[in-house]
Amino acid sequence: MLFCAEQNVGTHAPEPTGHAPVLIEETVSLLGGVAGARILDATFGGGGHTAALLESADQVSVVALDRDPEAAARSIQLQSKYAGRFEFIATDFGDLPNLDLGLLDGALFDLGLSSFQLDDGARGFSFRFDAPADMRMDPEAGISAAEFLETATEAQLIEAIRDFGEERSWRRVVSAIIGARGSGRLERTRSLADLIAQNVPRQVPGRKAIHPATRSFQGIRIAVNDELGAIERALPAAFDLLRPGGRLVVISFHSLEDRIVKRFCRRVAGRPEHQKDSRTMDERSRRAKLLHTRGLTAGEAEINRNPRSRSARLRVVEKLPTQPEKKS
Ligand SMILES: C[S@@+](CC[C@H](N)C(=O)[O-])C[C@H]1O[C@@H](n2cnc3c(N)ncnc32)[C@H](O)[C@@H]1O
Repeated sequence: MLFCAEQNVGTHAPEPTGHAPVLIEETVSLLGGVAGARILDATFGGGGHTAALLESADQVSVVALDRDPEAAARSIQLQSKYAGRFEFIATDFGDLPNLDLGLLDGALFDLGLSSFQLDDGARGFSFRFDAPADMRMDPEAGISAAEFLETATEAQLIEAIRDFGEERSWRRVVSAIIGARGSGRLERTRSLADLIAQNVPRQVPGRKAIHPATRSFQGIRIAVNDELGAIERALPAAFDLLRPGGRLVVISFHSLEDRIVKRFCRRVAGRPEHQKDSRTMDERSRRAKLLHTRGLTAGEAEINRNPRSRSARLRVVEKLPTQPEKKS
């Protein structure tokens, strides 16, 4: 299911420049306020959550990651303001299993794109602007969306459009993409969006009216950035780094992300991961406490202030005290 103001990049008016952090009070009350705590912000973005956590108590320290070089540039200001307490590492959080970060008291993932990325027409995330169809969070890594569309196997395209985009007309979209190879139509956001729109009914009964290319754009972006794979790799690695009592907080913006997060939280909490999980209690290990079982969502006031928060869901687990500590 696609629900997001964030993903609905074609029909929403641009937000003002900058990125309003979502569920910030909830995040700070779950992770902040403890003097000397050491927290990972795996998705620095504009640093809104990082700054709030650094301000939440004395001597809180934050190590922040982001794979977007522009986020790295934004982090410089905080590096001087909070010297000795703030460190930025330019990396994909999917590489967390290979990073030696030491023990943490908390970890935050605020998934998806920032408003900086969505509102920068040149990045190719949005068909609100005509630009090369790039869509990479790290423009130096991997291949652009245009190259992906020109070279992917049919199975990869089906995964992107049907599975990641949840586009019902995926057969037509995939065959239109394959048919357009070599024509130049896959190179730019607008021509790509037009091609997709020609192959998707304008309005599907019972579904919210969105631009017909919205779902496919989401799917292509998820594929190009291996977004779901990075989450799958990162959550267990971050959880392993937590001290007993440490908390893992994840904010997701669409159901594909949230499904991974929910299952991970239930797994570490020793609960059945999904309806068909028939393992007995003995076969499941309980390493964490699930807080806020259904997750937290933004209240009306926040949604009015920041429509992007409408689709946010925050999930949190707390590591049980009996866990053997990983060496720092
Ligand atoms: C929703 S924004 C975070 C906003 C941030 N919490 C704030 O308050 O400004 C998500 C950020 O995570 C980054 N990101 C997404 N996936 C990533 C990954 N796999 N590795 C590193 N950074 C990632 C994006 O580049 C983006 O800057």
